Amino acid sequence: MSEIRFDDKVVIVTGAGGGIGRAHALLFAKHGAKVIVNDLGGSAQGEGANSDAALKVVEEIKAAGGTAVANPDSVVDGGKIVQCAMDHFGRVDVVVNNAGILRDKSFQKMTDQDWDLVYKVHVEGAYKVTHAAWPYMKDNNFGRVIFTSSTSGIYGNFGQANYGMAKLGLYGLTRTLAIEGRKNNIFVNAIAPTGGTRMTEGLFPEGAFDKLKPELVSPLVAYLCSLDSKETGSLFEVGGGWMGKVRWERSLGIGFNPDESFSPEDVAANFEQLCSFEGAVHPKDNVEALRELMLNIQKFS
Ligand SMILES: NC(=O)c1ccc[n+]([C@@H]2O[C@H](COP(=O)([O-])OP(=O)(O)OC[C@H]3O[C@@H](n4cnc5c(N)ncnc54)[C@H](O)[C@@H]3O)[C@@H](O)[C@H]2O)c1
Repeated sequence: MSEIRFDDKVVIVTGAGGGIGRAHALLFAKHGAKVIVNDLGGSAQGEGANSDAALKVVEEIKAAGGTAVANPDSVVDGGKIVQCAMDHFGRVDVVVNNAGILRDKSFQKMTDQDWDLVYKVHVEGAYKVTHAAWPYMKDNNFGRVIFTSSTSGIYGNFGQANYGMAKLGLYGLTRTLAIEGRKNNIFVNAIAPTGGTRMTEGLFPEGAFDKLKPELVSPLVAYLCSLDSKETGSLFEVGGGWMGKVRWERSLGIGFNPDESFSPEDVAANFEQLCSFEGAVHPKDNVEALRELMLNIQKFS
């Protein structure tokens, strides 16, 4: 396998002043990319701002012989981040949406501010940056986009209703942008990473934090963003040196005659079969998802 290179490619990594984003930025730069190191530099809860975070990572990249520019804007002002890439390097090839915050609280205690802020940074921020970069990637007939999801979105997690909503929302965005981008060679994937960062301090069992080095997430991201990869619309869990792919699974279900009424009791009587995953299917798109439903209509017509 030839070396994966990003020479002449411009990569935006959001939230790259620390944690997993910093690791992405360093790896892309090592492989020849010109990197926009974006970071607002606030707290893990989304308070405050500090331009030093991004500057420090740029210094690290430059010290290692790489090329990078710091950007201190919030992802909510995504257009400014993309403009920074255009001003300095004249193009955008890759967007790694990584910036994130936490406002964990049980649902009853969650305030509108907790809900809105998490939505704004994760969903609106990723939308704004990607939306601003999209026309340039389309013009270049090349683009790679990564959205950073979470197992808390895929599986749920106590105290993370806002975060779970935002993180699985990003997978919905991934699925549709993969469809829209394909004809212009714009491939879009999502990762659900696990890494020992300020966001996860105190969460992992003794000894695990140090093993979950943020940089173990980045090789998958760099591969997915490479010219070689044709992968799109996919979701990967990754961390601690392990990585795997996630897909939807749906039962074959049960079918009632659509022209005859059926009752909640009929549903109850067949509920076990409805939920059985024997012979389950893995729909790849809307057409495949509707197949069993359509077959049911045909069966009774
Ligand atoms: N660490 C994990 O185990 C884990 C698990 C699941 C998902 N994630 C996701 O991975 C991403 C990186 O998280 P991390 O663990 O490295 O945490 P981190 O706090 O170290 O990094 C997040 C970075 O995003 C920056 N940021 C926050 N709001 C911003 C904004 N509005 N604009 C620009 N930058 C902003 C922060 O300053 C910070 O440097 C996040 O999206 C997070 O939700 C992490």
